[in-house]
Amino acid sequence: MPDSPTPISTAEDLPTSETIRLLHGRVSVRRYTDRPVDDAHVEAVLRAAFRAPTSSNIQSYSVVVVRDPETLKQLSVVTSNQRHVAEAPVFLAFCADMARIETAMTGYGHDIDGNNLEMGLVCSIDAALVGMSASLAAESLGLQGVMIGAIRNDATEAARILGLPHRVYCVYGMVLGWPAEAPPPKPRMPYDAVVHYERYGERRSARSMEEAVAAYDAELAAHYRGQGRTTNDDSWTADVAKKFSVRPRQKLRGDLAGQGFDFG
Ligand SMILES: Cc1cc2nc3c(=O)[nH]c(=O)nc-3n(C[C@H](O)[C@H](O)[C@H](O)COP(=O)(O)O)c2cc1C
Repeated sequence: MPDSPTPISTAEDLPTSETIRLLHGRVSVRRYTDRPVDDAHVEAVLRAAFRAPTSSNIQSYSVVVVRDPETLKQLSVVTSNQRHVAEAPVFLAFCADMARIETAMTGYGHDIDGNNLEMGLVCSIDAALVGMSASLAAESLGLQGVMIGAIRNDATEAARILGLPHRVYCVYGMVLGWPAEAPPPKPRMPYDAVVHYERYGERRSARSMEEAVAAYDAELAAHYRGQGRTTNDDSWTADVAKKFSVRPRQKLRGDLAGQGFDFG
């Protein structure tokens, strides 16, 4: 650490833009008005999202647009009955998709069996980048929503419901709608706890990582309590310690293998 740490700029000092303001205002929204999200809005959002960068131009993603109430109900069950999934104005399933790659490879006499961790990751990263781009495009139109990782609670059942073929799995879903709530933005880990210069550990901060996390714990606890929610004083630390004390989604590896992703 330098002897006299470079002062950390306040957000007000920094360059800004419409996109940066949009990002600072974004929150997960789980309640929506009755106004439908029409196909034109979905298409505008997805066409923009497909401009996301994609590894080696493989474009290894597909999106399933779901509106049917019965399908939404079934998807909600997979997500441990999340209400906003069952009542979603529209649900977008962002899928990692190796099917087109497999066709290309087969045409040239190769096969995709034994595809490895790198291939699975690349396809999943592609799908994630498209999803985040869609989220921002949607926000820019006034739509808001929430990503749904709980679709991986049972990736096999999600694939059945969505009719996903072999070599395709749903990385996460996203509910979009016209917002009927305006939750305050959830605080993030302090900048100086997350950013390092040149080498990990070289931080422009007088406080230790532990002090920065403790400050965040207190800020997050105040945020939750301000919303009438019960939390520990060490809010973030207690939450993540509990969340990962039991390894999540132990059947996921098997589910994804069943969909043709070896992750070996
Ligand atoms: C990949 C991913 C999966 C998520 N899955 C769920 C989910 O299943 N249900 C839910 O209500 N929120 C889900 N979220 C939303 C997070 O809980 C939320 O982004 C986080 O608490 C931060 O809050 P914010 O988005 O309001 O800033 C997910 C977010 C991400 C990025």
